[in-house]
Amino acid sequence: MAVGSAAPKMRMANQKKILVTGSSGLIGSEVCAYFAARGWAVHGADNNGRAAFFGPQGDTRWNQRRLQAELSGFGHHEVDIRSREQVLKLIETVRPDAIVHTAAQPSHDLAAKMPFEDFDTNAVGTMNMLEAARRFAPEAPFAHMSTNKVYGDAPNELPLAELETRWEYAKPEHKTGIAESFRIDQSKHSLFGASKVAADIMVQEYGRYFGMKTCCLRGGCLTGPNHSGVELHGFLSYLIRCNLEGKKYTVFGYKGKQVRDNIHSLDVARFIHAFIDNPRSGEVYNLGGGRGNSCSILEAFKLAEDVSGKKMQYEYVDKNREGDHICYISDLSKMRQHYPDWNISKSLKDIFSEIHQSWTRRVQQSA
Ligand SMILES: NC(=O)c1ccc[n+]([C@@H]2O[C@H](COP(=O)([O-])OP(=O)(O)OC[C@H]3O[C@@H](n4cnc5c(N)ncnc54)[C@H](O)[C@@H]3O)[C@@H](O)[C@H]2O)c1
Repeated sequence: MAVGSAAPKMRMANQKKILVTGSSGLIGSEVCAYFAARGWAVHGADNNGRAAFFGPQGDTRWNQRRLQAELSGFGHHEVDIRSREQVLKLIETVRPDAIVHTAAQPSHDLAAKMPFEDFDTNAVGTMNMLEAARRFAPEAPFAHMSTNKVYGDAPNELPLAELETRWEYAKPEHKTGIAESFRIDQSKHSLFGASKVAADIMVQEYGRYFGMKTCCLRGGCLTGPNHSGVELHGFLSYLIRCNLEGKKYTVFGYKGKQVRDNIHSLDVARFIHAFIDNPRSGEVYNLGGGRGNSCSILEAFKLAEDVSGKKMQYEYVDKNREGDHICYISDLSKMRQHYPDWNISKSLKDIFSEIHQSWTRRVQQSA
């Protein structure tokens, strides 16, 4: 382990320090780059767990190396968040001014194949982070990446209308999407959703019980050019890669009309910044692209084809994924109300074109 051995280079007096777990992943790396660009010393913690979960296609070392090469204020800590000892030592050593916890086992399909690893990473790892933060950095705002899977498949109970290319909420009062008040229990979550519920509730509790400035960000589809998308996680990244390489994409159920709302990782980092600047205790926000950035799988095929000029190859399996949402659109009203300066800055078109460029570059580099 390398806790403390990776102090960011060129640290200035009074420079603020941020600790980012899962720093080599999609959201973690974006948050690292975002805060480094604003003069923070950035401590990243990652153990390339994604490669252990998804195999070589999920390997995030390339992104770690990119951060180490490109960010002057960045230091990498090879830390496994499942290890209480390593996490306590990390936070005691770094004493960060802010913490962003993104490390996770992120796939709901995979969790059933590795229940212990999933729970140890998502629930126990988050508990380790919270308690270490309470002991050594209790004033630091603590932003936790949760997920919309904490609602289980309950959103599927809303009446839906079938349109030509997508499912849509049938009732006008549901059109703004799913709000934070939506119930989180008595539905099927997948083991992943359940381990994230445990973490989500604990993050809220450390805010409410101990007064720490914690928040849970219940992500819709978080995406961006630095995702190592694979079939089981990171649908847009994986879909665009399939399109680029002429590989067959498998659609699981719901006629390919299932709707996701997509948010660029930069807009996630921008919201985290707004929260850190003006933190609250034990908060919960639904963080997605909202209606403006929503698309169905069929609509995503068309957008991918538009950006690459290549026809999408796909097959249809008439069996949906366990606990999958049919139509999920995040209601962003609470975020906008608490942080009125924040808004979505990257459109769906921006997102498709950036992911396409990134895969083109990465595929060429690995050839
Ligand atoms: N990407 C999405 O669509 C999405 C949607 C909703 C919620 N989320 C949540 O957002 C967070 C970030 O997601 P992401 O897409 O950036 O995931 P990611 O897999 O790209 O990044 C997670 C990082 O955590 C690291 N990691 C895994 N286990 C670890 C461990 N034991 N110790 C240290 N590091 C470990 C991985 O190596 C990886 O680099 C996760 O909590 C995820 O559940 C993501």
